[in-house]
Amino acid sequence: MIRYGWICLIFSLSFCQSPEREKRPVRVKREREAFAIMRQDDCFICHGIYDNGGGPAYIRIAEHYETTNENIRMLSRKVLEGGGGVWGGQQMVRHNFIKPGEAESIVKWVLSLDADSVEKRSPINAPFVTIQPDSSQRFTLWLNDNHFAGSAEAVHFNDLSFRSLPTITNPLTIKHQIMIERRGKYFYKLAGKARLYIDGNQVISDREDDREIMLEMEEGIHTLRVEYEMQAKNNLLSLHWLPLGDSYYKLMK
Ligand code: HEC
Repeated sequence: MIRYGWICLIFSLSFCQSPEREKRPVRVKREREAFAIMRQDDCFICHGIYDNGGGPAYIRIAEHYETTNENIRMLSRKVLEGGGGVWGGQQMVRHNFIKPGEAESIVKWVLSLDADSVEKRSPINAPFVTIQPDSSQRFTLWLNDNHFAGSAEAVHFNDLSFRSLPTITNPLTIKHQIMIERRGKYFYKLAGKARLYIDGNQVISDREDDREIMLEMEEGIHTLRVEYEMQAKNNLLSLHWLPLGDSYYKLMK
């Protein structure tokens, strides 16, 4: 497993369906193609989607620019030719192998991001720990000695007071197994004061600037563990991933 170099990123426990997107197959196809090119190229070595790295997070670029034809052209040229001076600090390298049309699709994908796009695409807003027992037992949640096995649509702790739940130990541990069917780069994003471990290695810490990770993963079953520090208030835990073939984060099921 290779840990990629942008030093900071996000992840939250939920996966999304995007019904409104399915009505626009052409756009979805272009977004997928654009994202696939970025995944293959070096774009995520310097940028996270949510975390800053050597370059600004894509979400910050999307917040900074209106989606106008002029901005799409200007940013596409910048991706192709490289340069600096806007975000302070480093220069972006030039990208000789990307075609101008591809650069435009990529920039459109970047500008389509918005701060709560993950939540919009994952319309599940479950109360504290919704676990639907089923035979697949994909999620296991330990609350002291009680352990609940089942699959969770989402584990959200919105506005829940830790003190009102005396049975809960801190940190809360959630274990999960994922089946990776194809080797490749996968993204994980965690919201809430939590740490993510994959195959026993910590890949996301609980620092605010370390919320997201891109990992090269081999085929097979991988273990996933989230350790969540319950707060006195404002509890929120959410885990998203971005599997191969997708171009936006979705809730993990
Ligand atoms: C070597 C590190 C590096 C790589 C690789 C890289 N970038 Fe950048 N990128 C940067 C830096 C640094 C900036 C900020 C430049 C500035 O301040 O003008 C930036 C800025 C940007 C911007 C905003 C430009 C602006 O003027 O506001 C976009 C869009 C962008 N990158 C997209 C990409 C895409 C797409 C790829 C892959 C094809 C990519 N980057 C690869 C470092 C990188």
